[in-house]
Amino acid sequence: MEIGVIGCGKMGTALITGAIRSGAIEASKVHGYDPYPAAADSFREATGASTVAELDSLANCDTYLLCTKPQQAAEALGALPANQSSLVISIAAGLSIDWLQKHSPSDSRIIRCMPNTPALVGEGAAAFALGQSATTADAETAKTLLGSVGIALEVPEIQLDAVTGLSGSGPAFVFMIIEALADGGVRAGLPRAQALELAAQTVRGAATMVSETGMHPGALKDQVASPGGTTIAGISALEAAGLRSALIEAVAAATRRSIELGHG
Ligand SMILES: NC(=O)c1ccc[n+]([C@@H]2O[C@H](COP(=O)([O-])OP(=O)(O)OC[C@H]3O[C@@H](n4cnc5c(N)ncnc54)[C@H](OP(=O)(O)O)[C@@H]3O)[C@@H](O)[C@H]2O)c1
Repeated sequence: MEIGVIGCGKMGTALITGAIRSGAIEASKVHGYDPYPAAADSFREATGASTVAELDSLANCDTYLLCTKPQQAAEALGALPANQSSLVISIAAGLSIDWLQKHSPSDSRIIRCMPNTPALVGEGAAAFALGQSATTADAETAKTLLGSVGIALEVPEIQLDAVTGLSGSGPAFVFMIIEALADGGVRAGLPRAQALELAAQTVRGAATMVSETGMHPGALKDQVASPGGTTIAGISALEAAGLRSALIEAVAAATRRSIELGHG
């Protein structure tokens, strides 16, 4: 597999760094292109892969990873060799499989992905959907690339708006939760830096317990809420403030917005 990375910005660099580091792909098989020379330079430095000065020079690749901003994608795909049957994996937010198919060389097999920012620190939560002619082997390729910087689940394309609302937008919701927990710590008398460190590690630890024990989060919550204790007092305050409903509505609102943007 020869991989052409179109757009060597933050996400392209993070995905390829993770995939090379995990041994999923070899640096010698990856060739990046970015019109911005500084982006190409730092891609080479971070990944050990090569870059090319013109998109045409990626003609020998059989797999393309489209990592430009959505508004730059038409121009980038339009510059690919016209009569080549290759796999195009796109992480550009909001661009549908139909749109990608129309703008790619005619025999391309398309995979549309929705990664999230924690991919930049190797803890991403991504989902991907297969275009009509994409094969099981293509799905494995996407899973390997995205999975090297976190988890990657295959879903039908129609569910990608919900994925955008949950794991795409979710990091921002959790950043707000961490900030608010730290504020609570400061209000209760802790220094700011320690409150923030404790809040972030508490969220990380709780998340790890959910993934590693496989237990229902409600059961884990029940385990730490002793009768008449401190935790149930806090839980009661959260229920009164509507925390769960607020989060459900946040994911629903982000999903609706993703659908609206897709239609625009
Ligand atoms: N960041 C995230 O967490 C996240 C999450 C989910 C999805 N995504 C999606 O991932 C994609 C990339 O995001 P990013 O944060 O990595 O953006 P980014 O850092 O801005 O990277 C995009 C790169 O593509 C380059 N580019 C522009 N036109 C090009 C062309 N015609 N051919 C090749 N490269 C071109 C840009 O160069 P210039 O700087 O010169 O324009 C830039 O270096 C976006 O579509 C975004 O929607 C990102």
